[in-house]
Amino acid sequence: MTERTRVAIVGAGPAGLLLSHLLAEAGIASIVIDSRTREQIEKTIRAGILEQGTVEVLTESGASDRVLTVGRRHDGIHLGFDGELHHIDFAELIGRGVWLYPQHEVLIDLIAARLADGQDLRFGVTAQRVEDADSDRPRVIATDAEGAELVIEAEVVVGADGSRSVVRQAVVGSHGGYFREYPFAWFGILCEAPPSSDELIYSNSPDGFALISQRSPTVQRMYFQCDPDADPQAPSEEEIWEELQKRTPGTALNEGPIFQRDVLRFRSFVAYGMRRGRAVIVGDAAHTVPPTGAKGMNLAVADVVLLDRALRALLLERDERPFDAFAEQAMKRVWKAQQFSWWMTSMLHQQPGASDFDRMRQLGELRTVVDSTAGMSYLAEAYTGWPLPAR
Ligand code: DHB
Repeated sequence: MTERTRVAIVGAGPAGLLLSHLLAEAGIASIVIDSRTREQIEKTIRAGILEQGTVEVLTESGASDRVLTVGRRHDGIHLGFDGELHHIDFAELIGRGVWLYPQHEVLIDLIAARLADGQDLRFGVTAQRVEDADSDRPRVIATDAEGAELVIEAEVVVGADGSRSVVRQAVVGSHGGYFREYPFAWFGILCEAPPSSDELIYSNSPDGFALISQRSPTVQRMYFQCDPDADPQAPSEEEIWEELQKRTPGTALNEGPIFQRDVLRFRSFVAYGMRRGRAVIVGDAAHTVPPTGAKGMNLAVADVVLLDRALRALLLERDERPFDAFAEQAMKRVWKAQQFSWWMTSMLHQQPGASDFDRMRQLGELRTVVDSTAGMSYLAEAYTGWPLPAR
């Protein structure tokens, strides 16, 4: 069966759903497909920090009000090293903040808003490939849950289909992209206990990194640096608490039953391009960052704000210039976020095989940040997010 629409969007994650939402505001029709079920999408546990600009896009476009009522504003973080906590006060330094509101809540809001608006949103439909990206009628060839073929013909195809993107093949072929792996991962838990600290704690300790985050007044999210091959089921709850406590000296963590555990691998990736002809990739399909600093979803939102503008010009005014400029412009922010995520990661983790010199230099680097208004302001600007293009 062949269907026609203006924009075919592969992937119902934050990028794909937000793009369909913003396009609909301008009266541009789209079809969104995703191989997963709605339940799988709404239950996947991901990071929880939204930049101020991300929150503004979600609320001003009517995609989510709950971010302001259920989410909580945070005006800083604590950086821990050498046995002490240092407060980085974003509000005082640059007058901006972030919101703690988990990604799956954003997805719940976006799916509800899209369905209420009559969006053509299809779960259980798997993209197989993109054809004719170089023409002005590119197509997505997909398979539905029963195995029947579905062809979606559009004016533009957007791959918002995550790090294992199918659309990426049509954009950069087998050239791939810039890639970096890290010799460590995060062991993540969710536990039933109230927050252990007012602000998030990012802690560099001789035993490795730990991040003390939160989800709600009764649930905490915490992570500690581990081996990429660690088995999330292997350690006992006591062993997990021992690891976390020893990596956050001076802070008594509130312990409680652990009801979720996972191991998150780290990679930095940037595709060699984000567009070929009428096929575009955004979000994790085009780039992934290590989780330190929580840039992943925020970067996807920044891509989408830029692409929405470019598609409005292309499809409503036949002005191709913003579309032609899209990839180069998006990549500038992508590489700033790559730098920030790499920097936070390298400054805070213990590198296997690091020498005593390396370790002392790392503490010197952390001190350079917290002893300087300029150093703290760079961190605050990057963490709360550089300004987004005007909508
Ligand atoms: C969370 C995850 C991050 O990667 C981060 O930098 C901050 C918070 C979280 O899941 O809460």
